[in-house]
Amino acid sequence: MNPLTIFASRFVAGERPQDAVRVGERLQAKGIKATFDKLGEDVLDQHAAQRATTASCELLRLVPAGVERNISIKMSSMGQQISRELCLENVSKILDVARETGGFVRLDMEGSKLTESTITIFQELRQRHDNVGIVLQAYLHRTPDDVKEALRRKDRVRLCKGAYKEPASLAWQDMDQIRERFRHYTRLLLDGGRPAAIATHDESLVKDALAYVAERQLEASRYEFQMLYGLRPRRWDELVAAGHRMRIYVPYGTHWFPYFYRRLRERKENIFFVLRGLFE
Ligand code: FDA
Repeated sequence: MNPLTIFASRFVAGERPQDAVRVGERLQAKGIKATFDKLGEDVLDQHAAQRATTASCELLRLVPAGVERNISIKMSSMGQQISRELCLENVSKILDVARETGGFVRLDMEGSKLTESTITIFQELRQRHDNVGIVLQAYLHRTPDDVKEALRRKDRVRLCKGAYKEPASLAWQDMDQIRERFRHYTRLLLDGGRPAAIATHDESLVKDALAYVAERQLEASRYEFQMLYGLRPRRWDELVAAGHRMRIYVPYGTHWFPYFYRRLRERKENIFFVLRGLFE
């Protein structure tokens, strides 16, 4: 049996783009949106970066009408660590196809050695494209400035806690402090002009955002909740039934191990899900 089927199928839609699109269609039927991600990161070979770029363009074209053409990409797989020019060229191609197909591209945020470069490439792309958004990580010490700048530029931001292991000199380590930062940035983004994407499974943060939305009487079009495929599916349905927008991050592809490993490291319950899957 394919190892993906055994270990990771709870968190990864499959190995082929068609597998991800099928999940997207199933979600769409329940009123839930998707963002598709072809797994892969840290590409150091120009041809591989080219292949990753082509795959993202093909994915945008593959998503059928009726399902939003919304993808998430990691710029480290588009040549970011080879050269800035190559990465800009590759991501621009993807954004051109997104424009052609009415799609949207979210630039995932990776480890801290890529933060500055991701933000500056994003800002350059933003001068020519409105169909691109960024991710900011609540745990980084630099994020207050990044949130402020994103609000000033009216960027579309996904806020998450941050998934990479970072040193104390760069990132908050204590979960309560990270939550406090997350709450604060959520409010700033909700007050800002562009739709805010609140990406967390943490119920205390979801509840806090819901309370703020109710207090400020914000329309549902001003924000969306985002969660990862396989995590808290019952909560997706509840949020949609209550009139909120919900988007699921749907990863697929053969390079699933680093993504899968981060999910296991984040939360020990995820290991039990995998083990249970093994014996069911
Ligand atoms: P966390 O794992 O910290 O859990 C906190 C609490 O949430 C738990 O104690 C529990 O109460 C509740 N909870 C969590 N999982 C649950 C479950 N399965 N069932 C019930 N309760 C549960 N990171 C990054 O660095 N760059 C990026 O670009 C992205 N992109 C991204 C997109 C999307 C859509 C999401 C949801 C997340 C990301 N992330 C990310 C990952 C993010 O930074 C973070 O690592 C994970 O979301 C884990 O943090 P949480 O806030 O979700 O809860």
